[in-house]
Amino acid sequence: MKYLLIVAISLLAADPPKQPIAFSHKQHAGDFKLPCATCHVNPSPGEAMTFPAEAKCMACHNSVKTDSPEIQRLAKFVADAKRVPWVRVYQVPAIIFWSHKSHLDAGAKCVECHGNVAALSVMTKEKETSMGSCMECHRQKKVSNDCSFCHERQN
Ligand code: HEC
Ligand code: HEC
Ligand code: HEC
Ligand code: HEC
Ligand code: HEC
Repeated sequence: MKYLLIVAISLLAADPPKQPIAFSHKQHAGDFKLPCATCHVNPSPGEAMTFPAEAKCMACHNSVKTDSPEIQRLAKFVADAKRVPWVRVYQVPAIIFWSHKSHLDAGAKCVECHGNVAALSVMTKEKETSMGSCMECHRQKKVSNDCSFCHERQN
């Protein structure tokens, strides 16, 4: 138990990755109160919440803060028709069955799995995505924890 706790803390305390542009959720989702859905949609079939199209940023930043080096970097990606290469913070192995849609449909909230994002100046992994963390919530909500529920059937 003690060992697990230490592992969990060291994983969560890992430095957040440096992002290509210093985007702040605290500013946009906190101070400006932009809803998560302004930027994170859940297109069919619903597995991913996706990163926002750069055009969404430029709707404001064509005129807001155009003298900022960060915004100039953003505008350069757009001028070059490139996606901003955001570094992933939350990720499970591709072999795991995972869908945002089924969890959101079941009433799960962003904060349960990502913490208080609107308070973060730098996106940091505040919640685990380990097998144990998945199973803990499934146990609480009386959802299946059969191996084949999240993993390919082995036989
Ligand atoms: C103005 C647009 C915008 C809004 C509003 C916004 N986000 Fe984001 N979000 C981004 C961008 C850009 C990134 C990638 C850069 C980063 O990680 O900071 C991101 C990254 C994330 C990530 C990390 C994904 C990963 O695995 O790397 C999570 C989780 C997230 N957002 C959740 C939220 C939640 C929850 C809200 C609402 C409280 C929200 N976001 C509001 C633009 C936005
Ligand atoms: C039940 C837990 C859970 C809930 C609820 C949840 N997420 Fe996630 N989120 C995850 C996991 C797990 C990943 C990693 C998925 C992967 O690797 O494919 C993730 C990844 C992301 C990403 C990275 C891009 C992607 O889709 O893989 C963004 C952005 C994100 N979540 C935003 C949100 C927002 C916004 C909400 C609320 C509307 C939300 N999440 C609700 C668990 C959750
Ligand atoms: C609804 C309008 C709006 C949208 C949409 C928006 N922003 Fe912003 N953003 C602002 C405002 C306002 C500021 C603060 C400007 C100031 O400090 O005077 C800001 C500040 C910033 C800064 C800090 C600039 C600096 O040097 O201080 C960055 C970086 C940034 N935004 C990136 C983004 C990215 C990336 C997106 C898209 C994912 C985005 N913004 C979407 C309005 C917006
Ligand atoms: C906050 C609680 C919570 C967390 C955390 C959570 N789940 Fe779930 N999960 C649920 C609920 C509730 C359902 C039932 C949804 C339904 O009834 O359709 C569910 C259903 C599922 C399903 C079946 C629906 C589908 O999409 O096929 C899979 C697979 C699944 N979860 C995988 C995961 C994985 C993998 C993780 C960890 C990365 C995880 N869950 C974390 C609450 C959670
Ligand atoms: C609720 C979803 C869920 C259930 C149920 C589940 N797992 Fe997992 N499992 C995961 C996730 C998510 C990971 C990846 C964690 C990570 O490394 O990010 C994982 C990783 C693993 C790994 C590590 C190797 C690998 O493939 O990445 C093994 C082994 C494993 N699971 C076995 C099992 C067994 C055996 C069962 C049944 C007793 C089971 N799992 C049930 C979600 C689940």
